[in-house]
Parts: sequence; structure tokens; C-alpha cells
Amino acid sequence: MYDWQQLKETCRDCTRCGLCETRHNVVFGIGNESADIMFIGEGPGEQEDLSGIPFVGPAGKLLDDMLSIIDLDRQSNCYIANIVKCRPPRNRDPLETEQESCIGYLRNQVALVQPKMIVCLGRIAACRLIRKDFRITREHGTWIERGGVWMTAIYHPSALLRDVTKRPETFDDLLSIREKARELGISI
Ligand code: URA
Repeated sequence: MYDWQQLKETCRDCTRCGLCETRHNVVFGIGNESADIMFIGEGPGEQEDLSGIPFVGPAGKLLDDMLSIIDLDRQSNCYIANIVKCRPPRNRDPLETEQESCIGYLRNQVALVQPKMIVCLGRIAACRLIRKDFRITREHGTWIERGGVWMTAIYHPSALLRDVTKRPETFDDLLSIREKARELGISI
């Protein structure tokens, strides 16, 4: 396991999968490195690749709005990262092999942050982190505890941009996150 500086440097120089050939920047993660809550997306899009910062495009703006509903914000009380740290070409889903190459870095981040709660953003993150056959439409907003960490999944903000009818359910899921945080003694 690396410390923060070693991990950032290792990710910056990573050539473990083909995504390194087309990336402009490794998108490492952002937020409070001791946060009690982590949000995990699937992988950087175009604007994230160009800036090196997760969730800065349209989906990122919506994510910030969603966080603010429950008094979270990316600078102070949560940490945001992705399953893969380099942009898949044309925003395709990251391949299993790419996820496999990259997941160790995320596990190292989780070990350093030591969150009490992990929120998966969308199907890809949920299938990787919660259960291989996780069904986001049926199972979003449900909770499991693993190794002392409470985990849930909500719709990816990109899905909420495409289909606004999913937003009320996501509002309920956000309230459930705040409720769980209170139960766990996380002050938000
Ligand atoms: N979508 C993601 O899953 N992650 C990002 O960082 C941006 C968009």
C-alpha cells in the first residue's frame, strides 16, 4: 500500500492499460482525504480528461447540486473518485481488463481515506464494488455493510440528465444517504 504522495505519483505515471495512450491527464480524485463519505463514478469523460479533475462536465455540475441537497460538497466533507482513472475513448464503458488494471489504486485510496460510507454512482461502479450482477434500476438506494463500511448505489448523474423521470427516486436516495450518515454519527 502506498501513501498519498506515492499513490498520486504512481497513478500519474501508470501504463498498466491501453487507456494511458489516449489520456491527457490521469483523473486521480478530489475532496477531503479524511472524509467519512466517498462517491465513486465509472471513469473520466472529456472535460475530466482535459482538466484532470473528476466530475467537472455537465454530469459533475448535477452531482454538485445533488451533494448540496444533503449539505455535502466536494471540497470539505466528501471524496470523489472513479473506477478507472483515465478516459475511455468516446466515453465507452471501461473494459473489465481496464477496471482490473486500475481497481487497486481505488482500493488504496479507500484504505487511505477510511470512509464510513461509499456511494456508487451508476451501474458500473455498483457492479464493480457491490455485486457483479447489481441491478441499478431495482436496487438503487439499498444498503449493505461490508467490513464496517456502508455501501449503496444511486443513479449516475449522466443518467439523470438523460432521463429526468429518475430524479424523484434519486432525491429519496439522497435523503437515505443523509439518514444513514446521521445513524453512523457522520456530521453533515
Ligand atoms: N462520469 C464519471 O463517471 N466520472 C467522472 O469523473 C465524470 C463523469
